[in-house]
Amino acid sequence: MFRFGVDYYPEHWPESRWERDAQLMQEAGFNTVRLAEFAWSRLEPAPGHFDFDWLDRAIAILQARGIQVVLGTPTASPPPWVMAMHPDAYRVPESGLPVTYGNRRGYCPTHDGYRARSRLVTQAMATHYAAHPAVIGWQTDNEFGDRCYCAHCCAAFQAWLQKKYGALDTLNAAWGTIFWSHVYTAWTQIPAPLATAAPFGDGSHNPGLALDYYRFMSDCYVAFQHEQVEILRKACPVHFITHNLMGIGYDRLNYFDLAADLDFVSWDNYRRMQWTFQPTVPPSEAALAHTAMRGLKHKNFWVMEQQAGSGGWQIVSVAPRPGELQLWAYQSIAHGADAIIFFRWRTARFGTEQYWHGLLEHDGRTSRRYAEIKQMGAEIARVGAQIAGSEVRAEVAMLLDYDSRFAFQIQANNPAFHYTAHVHDIYQAFHARNVAVDIISAQDDFSRYKLLIAPAHYVLTEQTAAAITRFAQQGGAVVVTPRTGVKDETNTIVDVPLPGYLAKLCGIEVEEYDSLPAGVSQPLAFTNADIDITEAPHAKIWCDVVRAVDAQVVARYTQEYYADSPAITLNAFGAGHAVYVATFGDAALYSALAGWLLKLAEVEAMAASPAGVECCVRWQGGRRLLFVLNHSTEEQHVVLPETMLNLLTGETTPLSAVELRPRQVMILAAPSGDGR
Ligand code: GLA
Ligand code: ZN
Repeated sequence: MFRFGVDYYPEHWPESRWERDAQLMQEAGFNTVRLAEFAWSRLEPAPGHFDFDWLDRAIAILQARGIQVVLGTPTASPPPWVMAMHPDAYRVPESGLPVTYGNRRGYCPTHDGYRARSRLVTQAMATHYAAHPAVIGWQTDNEFGDRCYCAHCCAAFQAWLQKKYGALDTLNAAWGTIFWSHVYTAWTQIPAPLATAAPFGDGSHNPGLALDYYRFMSDCYVAFQHEQVEILRKACPVHFITHNLMGIGYDRLNYFDLAADLDFVSWDNYRRMQWTFQPTVPPSEAALAHTAMRGLKHKNFWVMEQQAGSGGWQIVSVAPRPGELQLWAYQSIAHGADAIIFFRWRTARFGTEQYWHGLLEHDGRTSRRYAEIKQMGAEIARVGAQIAGSEVRAEVAMLLDYDSRFAFQIQANNPAFHYTAHVHDIYQAFHARNVAVDIISAQDDFSRYKLLIAPAHYVLTEQTAAAITRFAQQGGAVVVTPRTGVKDETNTIVDVPLPGYLAKLCGIEVEEYDSLPAGVSQPLAFTNADIDITEAPHAKIWCDVVRAVDAQVVARYTQEYYADSPAITLNAFGAGHAVYVATFGDAALYSALAGWLLKLAEVEAMAASPAGVECCVRWQGGRRLLFVLNHSTEEQHVVLPETMLNLLTGETTPLSAVELRPRQVMILAAPSGDGR
């Protein structure tokens, strides 16, 4: 079943309004509503005094309209009495100054008292709703992840280290604490890497210590969530459990670890927000985020918060243009969403998020946005069952590595280098060609792919290097980019030439490197005739100076003392290949490379389309559902890969090409059930 619905806060509105809300939701085609995620003060007004009556009444009204419910555990926003009971449970950010009451996510994830209160409220909700026929599942907390540096966390870190390293000698050796005489002689001497100890931020701490702290902090949230998951699984074995993550941009938590405990991943997809006061998150960035969320469990996901209007706390973002909300929602579906839950129902009249617009206006009127989503609701009623459960299939994979992300937070290497921007730069070249990509972890099975990209895989274990090498050995094509293999898992630099454990696979050695100043770039000269170049590719940010040992040279630098030395190499290895791209390039470089790599790895695009039109496929067994999304404000013409029917309009004449209006979406399928 395809889930279509909205995030609803009945506690924000008079009860006399609830019936009207439910009616409008039903008319919009909604079958699912998320409730209660910030309602702790209403669910437990005083310690141990629970009140579910109001929520029962709200659920009953929705249930009567055929709407089912996902409940959030309310722990992201404790009521004042919780924090008054535990004044030392306030989270301490990197600055060392504890937060005060007034926002949300102000709690320390390791605090025993807070954890106990979280278990109690979760248990009470789970017991009360376990057998409720309208409740289908749970969302843990809300958008986990802010790091805490308080005394409780520091003590828990010391215990975590003791378990990990066993002996201080081992820890001292792993981190290289002899540097600046940081040799620890008692576990209690080990600090949390507060900014106060380090005039240049965390980068001044020992990199081994800082990386372990980031891993530890990630583990804290995973453990905090696990306590809720255990309670919910035991009390409500038939319900699903999910969490609303924050896409690929969020980098404080190892999302692979967080997702391991969930039945499926959900995430919050905002395209236009106040704090990025810019026209829109580009389609390729949204596509990458969806892809990354799908890859966490190799599974379809939910969008638990899909934008419903202008975003805004203090500043109001540009209003979504007619058609945009639908286009963004359909893009989510095209990349593997099996549920679209809009945030939020009615725009709040009070509180921090007064300007985060929902489908209804402040005064309760239905909006233009509501009308657009209602139209989508009618379409989903027609096609939702065909879409739900269909899968995205990719032959290209890119590694996403949280250890490397954490390590780059400690040492950026170059101020212009951003890990996810680099991942996006490469992804974008495949996205523009309508080639499906999976974003996966280094622990995944690579054998289902033809092309594997390891972008700036900075912290590289010997096991991961061996798995990548095996993939090439067995016929796969591997792409490696700069700053790969620099560090071992202790965040210590390897004592072999870079790219470290992958040097043999790549058939090269990095002799030295040049970290470029902002704005400096140089054109590359290509020596491989198989590469189609439409625009001159440039190197920027970083240039590895490489010696080709076994590899062929594909492109060379043209400037600086390393002019003529290799910038891109190709090495035949076993039954496969390894490509080393020795610099961070511009869009022209990755575009040229993508075209060539697809030929090398024998990967085909899903469809051809003009710029601004995205094509995605979800497979229902052997039948493909082709999503054609016109992100542009112009009419567009797309030739289809086979004759297909337009599922959204239910037309019965097969089409071989389609015309799309600005921002129009089409979902097409072959007339027969089993056509390719
Ligand atoms: C996040 C949260 C929501 C809400 C929105 C808008 O995604 O999960 O509770 O705060 O942002 O600000
Ligand atoms: Zn803490």
